[in-house]
Amino acid sequence: MKQYTYIMVKPDGVRQGLTSEIVKRIHAQRFEIKLFDVRKLSGELLDEHYAHVVDRPFYPGMKEFMMSDYVVPMIVYGENAIQGMRDIMGPTKPAEAPAGTIRGDYGNKENSSENVIHGSDSEENALIEIKRFFNLELTHEEDFNL
Ligand code: PPS
Repeated sequence: MKQYTYIMVKPDGVRQGLTSEIVKRIHAQRFEIKLFDVRKLSGELLDEHYAHVVDRPFYPGMKEFMMSDYVVPMIVYGENAIQGMRDIMGPTKPAEAPAGTIRGDYGNKENSSENVIHGSDSEENALIEIKRFFNLELTHEEDFNL
């Protein structure tokens, strides 16, 4: 089934000049990039996006990091795009991510906030995150031809 997913190159990925490499890896999976943007994020938006970890000790540093530079939000679409993107990203913690995955190749093994890329973890969250970052109400059932 074709799915939408929300993907975001984080400030460490932007600073390392990895956006084009990540786009190449997305296209190598035959996924489409439906929307692509470059912007800085507000603290309010980050508190909402990372609501499930705001009380964790690492969150203040992570929030500062996420506001430290541009990010590249994208809407990616394709067959099993949510799991497919998670496979090429690798696990959240770069120290646990195998070589050949984006986080394994480029993430900071000392700091899991600096894991280069974010990707939605479920169909439900993908639609929530797309609405949050692009203010678009999509469904997975339809190709919106964005
Ligand atoms: S959880 O509760 O840890 O499972 O949450 P998860 O959704 O996996 O992670 C949410 C984001 O928190 C960052 N993260 C960390 N930063 C620093 N130190 C530690 N230990 C740590 N654990 C998780 C991680 O970069 C996740 O960001 P995203 O954008 O979701 O990859």
